[in-house]
Amino acid sequence: MSSPRPPNPRWTRRDFARTSASLPLLALVPRGLLGLGTGRQEVTIRVDSEIGQVRPELHGHFAEHVGACIYGGVWVGRNSPIPNVNGYRKQAVEYLRELGVPILRWPGGCFADDYHWRDGVGPPAGRPKRVNLHWGGYVEDNSFGTDEFIGFCRQIGAEPYICGNVGSGSPEELRDWIEYSNFPSGSALADERARNGSAEPYRIRYWGVGNENWGCGGQMTAREYAALFRRFAVFAPVLGGLKPYLVACGPDRNDVAWSHDFMDSVPAHRLPEAFAMHYYAEGKSPSAAYTPATMEAQLATFPEIERAVIQQRALLDGYDGGRKVMLVLDEWGVHDRLVPEEEKSHGRLWQQCTMRSALAVALGLNLFNRQADKLAMCNLAQMVNVRAPLLQTEGGECVRTLVYYVFALFRAHRSKTAVRVEAEDPSSSGLSVSASREGQDLVVSLLNSRDDTDMPVACSLRSVRPASASAQILHADDLNAYNGFGSSAQIAPRPHPVSVGGGGLQLDLPRLSVVTVAVRMA
Ligand code: AHR
Repeated sequence: MSSPRPPNPRWTRRDFARTSASLPLLALVPRGLLGLGTGRQEVTIRVDSEIGQVRPELHGHFAEHVGACIYGGVWVGRNSPIPNVNGYRKQAVEYLRELGVPILRWPGGCFADDYHWRDGVGPPAGRPKRVNLHWGGYVEDNSFGTDEFIGFCRQIGAEPYICGNVGSGSPEELRDWIEYSNFPSGSALADERARNGSAEPYRIRYWGVGNENWGCGGQMTAREYAALFRRFAVFAPVLGGLKPYLVACGPDRNDVAWSHDFMDSVPAHRLPEAFAMHYYAEGKSPSAAYTPATMEAQLATFPEIERAVIQQRALLDGYDGGRKVMLVLDEWGVHDRLVPEEEKSHGRLWQQCTMRSALAVALGLNLFNRQADKLAMCNLAQMVNVRAPLLQTEGGECVRTLVYYVFALFRAHRSKTAVRVEAEDPSSSGLSVSASREGQDLVVSLLNSRDDTDMPVACSLRSVRPASASAQILHADDLNAYNGFGSSAQIAPRPHPVSVGGGGLQLDLPRLSVVTVAVRMA
């Protein structure tokens, strides 16, 4: 439940007396009419001012061999008593297919630079057991490898994106992995894939060349990494007519020195197709114990992420005015304070996924709309049971988190054209808005991250008139509320009133809420 703010310390006794005397009367009047605890907001949607297409890949996801993301999460194994489709958790497949996952990055993360793909192909009984160095030293039995990953992507309708191993791997390994996946037939590796179940090539387009090589991927300098990138890129083959889309390791947050050093060290004819930044919103509290202040501090990262997107894009443009190198936000989301007991019972990097996590993710998706012309792909960390996931599992249960529902609310923006929005002082008010359009359809997403202020919002639409509108809301009274296991009362989007009139839209945006409005223009 939201807690009331303490009274203004500069108030005098007389102020208090006056206020308390009038309280019973005031209590009878709706807050909205008094302007008490409300932050009336005016927003202008410049429907004619286009930013760029909201690529579906801006709603991408990430699945790593960490904690219970793969094992016990999406993969329960073929002999599991948990309902499964060829080893994939049936309920997870259904939920993810329903949501639509445009692209899925795998197998890491830090795990990628210690992963050797040959360990994960062939008859499962013959696959070697290795130690997962980064995520707890448990035994990785390699039962989920390349063929299982592709099978999973096909089940949920996602485009596969594989992150190669630069830290402890070789150009030969990445080259062979691409051949195994993409060469049609007749080579030893293509025939091996056929024996493993797929005569058809996988045609994987997206390949990461390492992960966080400034950190867990080898502790390199940007120039050291760039030298390796050049070698790996030379041996990344065009096969079956498919040119690999190479994603180079970009900066840790807005590290401009890394980006300059990398771009200075790679010749124009061998630039990567994309450059991947990682940026998380760090938080000080355990995931289900945020206060309004610690939430505000964590959410304050999002304007910094937006600044980083703008600055890194401008930096790349300084080298490559033709936008040959796309900017990717390969990993993003919330890092809360981990609780060792929770990690013990639910796996490494397990966090509860609360209304506050949902607001953080909605802030991210709004900023991707606003910067749609600068971003090619963004992958949330991570899909199941890790950080701010779409799904959480426990035994046979699989729960859709509030983050799942934020993606569901934003789904209508995919492939539309983002348009500019002007809002009054959005930073201090806790209001964040974005919009996109296609033909006569306009989609507006708004969120109120204040825990103490409801907002009546008036949206005027520049140069068009709305004919009709409907809205859905995701809201919880408590910033630490979440969808738990074994509970039939789940928080999910529900219809929300919105009115059309005077050339615009009017709606109430309660504290701690995310709303998407679908507008049909006249
Ligand atoms: O998401 C967990 C880890 O965070 C990833 O493995 C790594 O790339 C990042 O630092």
